[in-house]
Amino acid sequence: MQSGNITDYIKVKKIREGVDAINTLPTIPVTLEKIFSILEDENKSARDLENIIKYDQSLSAKIISVSNSAFYGLRMQITTISRAVVAIGFTEVKNLAISVALMNFFKTKAKFPGFSVDKFWLHSIGVGIVSRMIARISANIDAESLFTCGIVHDIGRVALCAYFPEEFKAILDIKNQENCSMLEAEERYGLKHTLVGRWLAEKWQFPEAFVQTISCHHHPYEQKTFLTAAGIVQLADILVHRTGVGEEPDDSLTWSVSSLKDLELTEDYVSGVEEGLYSLKDVIKETWGSLISV
Ligand SMILES: [Fe+2]
Ligand SMILES: [Fe+2]
Repeated sequence: MQSGNITDYIKVKKIREGVDAINTLPTIPVTLEKIFSILEDENKSARDLENIIKYDQSLSAKIISVSNSAFYGLRMQITTISRAVVAIGFTEVKNLAISVALMNFFKTKAKFPGFSVDKFWLHSIGVGIVSRMIARISANIDAESLFTCGIVHDIGRVALCAYFPEEFKAILDIKNQENCSMLEAEERYGLKHTLVGRWLAEKWQFPEAFVQTISCHHHPYEQKTFLTAAGIVQLADILVHRTGVGEEPDDSLTWSVSSLKDLELTEDYVSGVEEGLYSLKDVIKETWGSLISV
């Protein structure tokens, strides 16, 4: 804490220790809770998902719009959620529904001078797309779930912005005064987005892979055990920052040689993904940028 009286100190201390976090953070939005219940129940079908989405007009309109975008390159025109399920698949519609529901929820809440929530989501989407790309070739892991892991990886930052505005302002002040990255500013202040994200993920009862990714995507080793999803997202996060999809570059982020080894990836492969991302960048911005800013 840079300045302030003893009351401020106690308040910040309580937040840092998570004492006040549970009360300050919101309850999970109803639509998102319903989508998660489908995610965790093998008996639920595409029809159950359609029934949830169709009652949320904004959600269904955005999913249909993304399905018709250049990103999927479909020849047919998608006009309903059930057609979207047939054309791009049940899992993909689930992924889109989670992403759009999160964006819709934080859209009105996370407004803060000096922080672009639009760029934040573009970054998160870029990380989702690249994480899935890497997961498809690198490890024995459900690649499709990596898209959503990427979408939620920095959720703590948008939660900080929306629900801890004083603390978020202090972090932005440190970033500007010391000309450092957001992550470094959070570390100096003593309240990282990975921790706030963990509180939110636990309160909202996210699946365990999401909780691990949110908490550990900057340090994917927990007690020397490599967390594959967190490791993939760390790599994707760095590549997305480098190529400038969404948020500004962050040179302080690096991956380790052992991470690549654990993911069974080579430097050449990573360079190839980076090159591919440069050509995909405009499509990502075009497809998602218009949705995010609506
Ligand atoms: Fe992060
Ligand atoms: Fe990130």
